Amino acid sequence: MRRLFLGAALCALAAAAPAQTAGTEEASADGGRWPAVHSRVARDPAIEARIDGLLARMSLEQKVAQVIQPDIASITPEQYARYNFGSILAGGNSDPGGVPTAPAAEWLALADRFWDASMHGPGLRIPVMWGIDAVHGHANIVGATIFPQNIGLGAMRDPDLIRRIGEVTALEMRVTGIDWDFSPTLAVARDDRWGRSYESFSENPEVVRAYAGAMIEGLQGRPATPDFLGPAHVIATAKHFVGDGGTDGGHDQGDNLSSDAELRDIHGAGYPPAIEAGVQAVMASFSRVRGEKVHGDRDLLTGVLRDQIGFDGLVVGDWNAHGQVDGCSNTSCPQSFNAGLDMFMAPDSWEGLYDNTLAQVRSGEISMARLDEAVRRILRVKLRARLFDEVRPSQRPFAGRFDLLGAPDHRAVARQAVRESLVLLKNQNHLLPLRPGARVLVAGDGADNIPKQAGGWTITWQGTGTTNADFPNAQSIWGGIRETVEAAGGHATLSADGSFTDRPDVAIVVFGENPYAEFVGDRRSIEYSPADDSDLQLLRRLRAQGIPVVSVFLSGRPLWVNPEINASDAFVAAFLPGSEGGGVADVLFANPDGSVRNDFRGRLSFSWPRRPDQMPLNVGDSNYDPLFPYGYGLRYADNGDLAPLSEDRPAGGGLPEGVLFGRGALPPGWRLASEGEVSLRNIDRRAQEDSRLATWRGAGRIAILPGQPVDLSREATGELSLVFEYRIDAAPAGPVSLRLGSAALPIAGDLRGAPVGQWRTLIMPLRCFARAGATTDAVSPPFAIESDGAMTMALSDVRIASAAVDQDHCGRP
Ligand code: BGC
Ligand code: BGC
Repeated sequence: MRRLFLGAALCALAAAAPAQTAGTEEASADGGRWPAVHSRVARDPAIEARIDGLLARMSLEQKVAQVIQPDIASITPEQYARYNFGSILAGGNSDPGGVPTAPAAEWLALADRFWDASMHGPGLRIPVMWGIDAVHGHANIVGATIFPQNIGLGAMRDPDLIRRIGEVTALEMRVTGIDWDFSPTLAVARDDRWGRSYESFSENPEVVRAYAGAMIEGLQGRPATPDFLGPAHVIATAKHFVGDGGTDGGHDQGDNLSSDAELRDIHGAGYPPAIEAGVQAVMASFSRVRGEKVHGDRDLLTGVLRDQIGFDGLVVGDWNAHGQVDGCSNTSCPQSFNAGLDMFMAPDSWEGLYDNTLAQVRSGEISMARLDEAVRRILRVKLRARLFDEVRPSQRPFAGRFDLLGAPDHRAVARQAVRESLVLLKNQNHLLPLRPGARVLVAGDGADNIPKQAGGWTITWQGTGTTNADFPNAQSIWGGIRETVEAAGGHATLSADGSFTDRPDVAIVVFGENPYAEFVGDRRSIEYSPADDSDLQLLRRLRAQGIPVVSVFLSGRPLWVNPEINASDAFVAAFLPGSEGGGVADVLFANPDGSVRNDFRGRLSFSWPRRPDQMPLNVGDSNYDPLFPYGYGLRYADNGDLAPLSEDRPAGGGLPEGVLFGRGALPPGWRLASEGEVSLRNIDRRAQEDSRLATWRGAGRIAILPGQPVDLSREATGELSLVFEYRIDAAPAGPVSLRLGSAALPIAGDLRGAPVGQWRTLIMPLRCFARAGATTDAVSPPFAIESDGAMTMALSDVRIASAAVDQDHCGRP
């Protein structure tokens, strides 16, 4: 009832607003009913009979255990054995022994331990099923082939290659004994401020529709063949059902206000083809639909998914997402189970959740019929995957074949994907393709930086904290350029800051977003907002010396980069290409005779913004006014000249994301104040009055005072740091501390170590403040420097950002 009522109210609103997409009008007539889908995986009477037999023998406790999925970081195989849970997962930061770079052999050994735990014990035993986020290759594992993130794959428009990518991913998972992939993401991202935009193939439901079945067939094998869930394949998951890519403002885990018809035709477009291709799992979304958390939404999880579409696999929850349903906690949520969730993802909450769910079945709050139904679906998937007839993971075909991780033919598939996903946006005077025999300068902090070219969900959840050394089977973009140029007798030099001694013929500058995942990547604006403007200065410096500049832009989404495009002769959107940096050189360079070696093929799967305040921006909008429309992408034969673009930022556009003090300004309503024996005045650093000079004569502090305490709890989970730039003019006489909320950390040692008169950056992990007792949900001040004695310090940029730093270094007294 609630949903229909809300839906009607919002339809009225939507009618008044400009239509977001075409093709939704005719849909409203049927109230958004979804089509019944005929899965190519037929119901097998023999399997159903086997399930009947199992259900008859299982105890209530065994059944409840099947519907719960703990995380390997929070349960031992011994604990697991006691319950015989239905599944385990390895979350983005969960690794054997807690070591992100644990060798593949340790993953396989752990798979054996959990398998043994599930199979050995008194009475009936049910085999474990292990899930992981192999969302761009089996990228949690050192040495695996890492494919471009989905946004780049979307630009290829090549479903056959998508199928191959699924096959390779499945095979590499099999090497480590893992059965179940939480992929593909079928989100149709409509607001690129969303931190998961890169996990989406496209803003256009057509691309997602065309890819969904192909990826699932690649992962699971073709239905009705012996390949299906055979020894070279894994179980796939269509996620996150439904509407994850359409939350208001692009807020991760936020609220999707679409009508029922938009939900089906835009956000749900990938599900019917996924289910037709036989996908065996669907993951419920963290987000809301018109105010209601999907995890508690019976109309969607049961009404749409089961009754209308006819899905007969299992519905798994997201990471403690059931705990966000009204009236639920991480350890108790009958609402979610009754709404149609079959398996709770309960990483660290499994113990309490098991006890409570068991009690709820006993009390009748959860019916026995609902429990049996959920267990039936889980067992059906396990039987289809032949897990009941399996041996230990390490004894299965391909297990332990570590040579298959990053095998040459796998990497060739990824390299082809890189070539096909690059999108050429500008090519002034036909600068590209380059002559491989030239003198090439390769610059930018992304040039020799595999973590940056791979993005989030790579070794670690956020994709941070790793270096090139953690990627034995990968090549940086620089590595590929050097190989190509040297093979042709040219000369390539790497120089991150762009300095050189021998004048180059051309410079390739690789720069862009640093890795992030999920909500940590949410942004307030789509302006490219690096910590400083050093990328732009680098491009301009090279240009000013008369050197033609090719920009290779790494990003998880289109961003407003008009100044950077203006400062480049050629501009390539490379998205997040993964392990095969060599694919970039394959396209940028011609054959030695000057003929085209590989033309650009990529076409934007997301609209590119003309203005920084232009979001959402999607093909089909009325007043659609992108800089580069959906589908754009130059070829070498095209005229790639571009007139200078406007560099105006809208007035009041505010500071970039995470900036507390920058360009001399603070967020609206905030101030930088001095208290005690300290005075503050404006000074110039890069621009007029963009910095402050603080002079302490005795004890006192300077502090950034927000109007109200700020909530940094999300930032605190994401390995972010408090970062500021300072210049010491007179070293501190006594103790100095850096404060965030209630925690103050000593930094006098850091400041005394800084050379007088030079600008420096101080990076303090948020984790340090949390350890020192700061609460992060209501912080004030978010930044203060407190000195007991005299000191003079200039201050320029204060921000919360991800920065390469030792997460355990918490300041020096
Ligand atoms: C993400 C899912 C992922 C799960 C397990 C969640 O936070 O939303 O996409 O599958 O974690 O890592
Ligand atoms: C896990 C991820 C998960 C996230 C959810 C992380 O600690 O590693 O897999 O998606 O938490 O917030």
